Amino acid sequence: MKIKVFKESFERIQADCSVVWVWDKNLEGLSDKDTLQELNFKDITFVQSSKILYVNLAKRDIDLLREEAYKAIKYLNTLSYKSVKIPTFANEQEDYAILLGALSGGYSFDTYKSEKKSCVIEDIYVSHVSEDLISKAQIVFESLKLTRDLINTPPCDATPSYLAEYSIQEAKNLGIECKILSKKEIESEKMHSLLAVSRASNQEPKVIHLSYKGANPKAKLVFVGKGLTYDSGGLSLKPSDFMVTMKADKSGGCAVLGIISAIAKLRLPLEVHGIIGAVENMIGGNAYKPDDILSSREGKSIEVRNTDAEGRLVLIDCLSYAQDLKPDYLIDIATLTGACVVGLGEYTFGIMGHNEELKSAFEREALQSGELVAKLPFNSHIRKLIDSKIADICNVSSTRYGGAISAGMFLGEFIRKENEDKWLHLDIAGPAYVEKEWDINPYGASGAGVRACVEFAISLCEEK
Ligand code: BES
Ligand code: ZN
Ligand code: ZN
Repeated sequence: MKIKVFKESFERIQADCSVVWVWDKNLEGLSDKDTLQELNFKDITFVQSSKILYVNLAKRDIDLLREEAYKAIKYLNTLSYKSVKIPTFANEQEDYAILLGALSGGYSFDTYKSEKKSCVIEDIYVSHVSEDLISKAQIVFESLKLTRDLINTPPCDATPSYLAEYSIQEAKNLGIECKILSKKEIESEKMHSLLAVSRASNQEPKVIHLSYKGANPKAKLVFVGKGLTYDSGGLSLKPSDFMVTMKADKSGGCAVLGIISAIAKLRLPLEVHGIIGAVENMIGGNAYKPDDILSSREGKSIEVRNTDAEGRLVLIDCLSYAQDLKPDYLIDIATLTGACVVGLGEYTFGIMGHNEELKSAFEREALQSGELVAKLPFNSHIRKLIDSKIADICNVSSTRYGGAISAGMFLGEFIRKENEDKWLHLDIAGPAYVEKEWDINPYGASGAGVRACVEFAISLCEEK
């Protein structure tokens, strides 16, 4: 689906059909007023004779515009028109929301369906929107699509090696670098904690290192993603109902690929690295066990009390590797805890870290991007809950409460003093995978974290 801008006024654009925004069900002045009344207009109604889709907006609100533009395209894809014109407002934020919503309305994942649903709408016409804004919307949507497609790919196909191959291919397309660390190289890197998680799987682990160097970089960002291609829980096996959807435990890793892809296409003046820990958490005779004590790349020893708290074990070794790159900003993205979903709900992701200012700056950009986020506070009492009697630290908390924060604080133990203020941890366990469609997210992976991180990266390039 392509967006085309026209220089002429909206009325003069020739399209197969058009969208008209209705303000709070007020039909006054609309050419189809009588028909709409007859049809008992509520939220979205198509009038055949005028080929107009009327879409209700309770108020002029950016998030609503994005969502309704998404619904409009979804609706039109059930009809047979190839092009549609959508009115915009000559306001960057509102127009960007409409464009991104509309593009998202054309997304579906049907790789594994025998019968493909082709997107009926091929072109979206708008007037008086800048080419830059259109290109930003196209780029961000493409990276959302890439991220979603990869997460949606089932674990029988999307193995760590698949993620590595996919990254190499994407890096080639983007003209950026991609280095894959094989199991041997991961061993020489002393990533023992990550290796322990992957040990029972017959899929070799991969650490993927992507790098993009823009011209005259203003800052160095390193993104680290949890790429559990499957999380069975390991020997602390998940109950069947909780195991389903765990193909999405690679969401953070896939988001990192999507983020770096968008940043490279936007040619942002930044140096950006993406580190993805691609691993499968399985069971077997050689599985790592509750009671094991692991060593890690940073040197600390870890008492394992639950093999289902594996994401943090993979992340700490990747965060260690990432810190050798001397970042100005270090951001990890992970479907880390069920506790974060319990605490914030399925729509919001958690922002953690030691630097309150950085957390707030990220929160602002994330909200602006259309994602829902909330800051979660660290405290010294929760930190004590991950003390171990026999190792430097324990991989789970000694209580049932505050699990998102104790997981974040576990990661924090592996962040070097000089990087504490540069680090953010994003727990996307809630919104990463969608079981009931909401906002601009159909069933399946949402690409959580991509929009927020890209917006944050853009904000670092703006003159202050
Ligand atoms: N991948 C899960 C977290 C998760 C849960 C993601 C639900 C998405 C939806 C993670 O590896 C996990 O299993 N965490 C445990 C930690 C516990 C053992 C301390 C959890 O949250 O139950
Ligand atoms: Zn787990
Ligand atoms: Zn997991």
